[in-house]
Amino acid sequence: MTDPDTKTMTDDPRSTSSSDGGDASAPAPRVPLPPRSATSGAVSTATDREVLTTAPGISVTGLDAFYGSGHAIKDVSIEYVPNKVTAMIGPSGSGKSTVLRCINRMHEEIPGARATGKVMLDTDDIYGSGVDVVAVRRAIGMVFQKPNPFPTMSIFDNVAAGLKLNGIKGINLKERVEQSLQGASLWDEVKDRLNEPGIGLSGGQQQRLCIARTIAVEPQVILMDEPCSALDPIATLKIEELISDLKQRFTIVIVTHNMQQAARVADTTAFFLAGELIEHAPTAEVFTNPSDSRTEEYVTGKFG
Ligand SMILES: Nc1ncnc2c1ncn2[C@@H]1O[C@H](COP(=O)(O)OP(=O)(O)OP(=O)(O)O)[C@@H](O)[C@H]1O
Ligand SMILES: [Mg+2]
Repeated sequence: MTDPDTKTMTDDPRSTSSSDGGDASAPAPRVPLPPRSATSGAVSTATDREVLTTAPGISVTGLDAFYGSGHAIKDVSIEYVPNKVTAMIGPSGSGKSTVLRCINRMHEEIPGARATGKVMLDTDDIYGSGVDVVAVRRAIGMVFQKPNPFPTMSIFDNVAAGLKLNGIKGINLKERVEQSLQGASLWDEVKDRLNEPGIGLSGGQQQRLCIARTIAVEPQVILMDEPCSALDPIATLKIEELISDLKQRFTIVIVTHNMQQAARVADTTAFFLAGELIEHAPTAEVFTNPSDSRTEEYVTGKFG
């Protein structure tokens, strides 16, 4: 087991603190991200839709995460493959959300929380010295369990909000909002009511609105923490179809308690138990021929 006192995310001591490292002596922030590029689809496989934009993968090595003295994540190493959907499954409390929050540096915002280990976005160490945390969170967007549109804002402003929060200027705002709503498969349903409140939409539409808000800032990776758990089966299927579209442009990580959902959308599935990664393999293998008996017990409903 890793000793939390002897290992840090990087050599940068700020990375183990619960602040976001905004100290004045820090090197100038930099945008740590590779440019996005068009591709011929070389990453795709026969069963995939064509890859339209190559997204970077994420590589996690030796991740340990703590809440105070509570050791929530134990020496987890996992690869999230570019332009693929990785599902994270496991019982409640097994650490799935914590891993997600470590990937986009939100974990450190929780008082008393810290993490050690390494998280690479392609070739960039997201806990590296001088990395701009805001740029990391822009590159690695997150969609939450409960749709969370800004309650006082219109549909249009909800999508534009991410752009404003990230200080993105010099773009055609109307065009970007429309593209994002198209990308989230919501445009046709809302194009005539863009000035109406976002919270006036149905739950499934609100979740697609939140996905539009996330993709408006052109992230490279999208983390989704149980994005369908508050939705009915029809709205859930819409989001699942959308996820399959989105992987043409983004690398996707989805936490789900729904085994069928993982089987439907995920290229690979990772099973977590008590803060440890037990198994990560192609989804069909995890569900039909898992290598660990604990995975088998979980996916066959014997516990969890
Ligand atoms: N803010 C927090 N403060 C203290 N402990 C926490 C906090 N958040 C999570 N934990 C603990 O960390 C461990 C992992 O929790 P986490 O939320 O990552 O699990 P999970 O797999 O996402 O569970 P669920 O499926 O219920 O969402 C649990 O033991 C949990 O109690
Ligand atoms: Mg969770």
